[in-house]
Amino acid sequence: MNMLTFPSEAELNEAAAGVITDLVRTKPHAVIGLATGGTPVGIYRTMIRSYQNGMVSYQQVTTFNLDEYVGCSVEDPQSYACYMQEHLFRHIDVQPMNIHIPDGSVRDPEAECRRYDERLEAVGQLDLQLLGLGHNGHIGFNEPDHSLISSTHVVALRDETRQANARFFDDPGRVPTHAITMGVGAILKAKKILLVVKGSDKADIVHRALTGEIKTECPASLLQTHPNLVVMMDEEAGRHFR
Ligand code: PGA
Repeated sequence: MNMLTFPSEAELNEAAAGVITDLVRTKPHAVIGLATGGTPVGIYRTMIRSYQNGMVSYQQVTTFNLDEYVGCSVEDPQSYACYMQEHLFRHIDVQPMNIHIPDGSVRDPEAECRRYDERLEAVGQLDLQLLGLGHNGHIGFNEPDHSLISSTHVVALRDETRQANARFFDDPGRVPTHAITMGVGAILKAKKILLVVKGSDKADIVHRALTGEIKTECPASLLQTHPNLVVMMDEEAGRHFR
């Protein structure tokens, strides 16, 4: 595990975006797993800047997002599909046909999970998976439980996750109860994982996840088993490692 802490959020964003742009420059047809939430926003902003400066092209890149809310259509401003357009995709030259996000609006979410796994299996392995970290130790929407699911699946969101995400909704009562998430199988199969953690409120969980017992009640603890894990934190999140 390669663990790095940064004195400012700008430097952290720069370094994390650099991992992605370096990969794309050396492997233009890279397959990249992307995340949503508050953590990646600044990373995506930095990626957009280097694209606009002509330093990188995403023309041949394929992306897979970790998750989507059940019941959210692409047009829904709260959907992760919409988030990705807003924060990254519409600003860069990634090809729409190479973008993969589970469709939360389908009538049969279980069938959508199988379809997503078929697409993941077709590419074989993600070159890089970008991850944020939930306060309860979730990765993607793989919530703490007595067992974890390897494949893409429908998950009931925990109350603490719905509360944490309520900040993105005008009406907190509208936070969906379920999501489709990539399972831990595809995440851990990625050639490289970049875990980005920001803020003092994540200091305890990132320390527990990376140094504590490996157990499904803390899904991020499974990352300890990955042979090529890079962890980037700001000083607040990394304070227990000093
Ligand atoms: P955040 O969410 O980036 O909005 O803190 C991370 C996560 O829940 O995985």
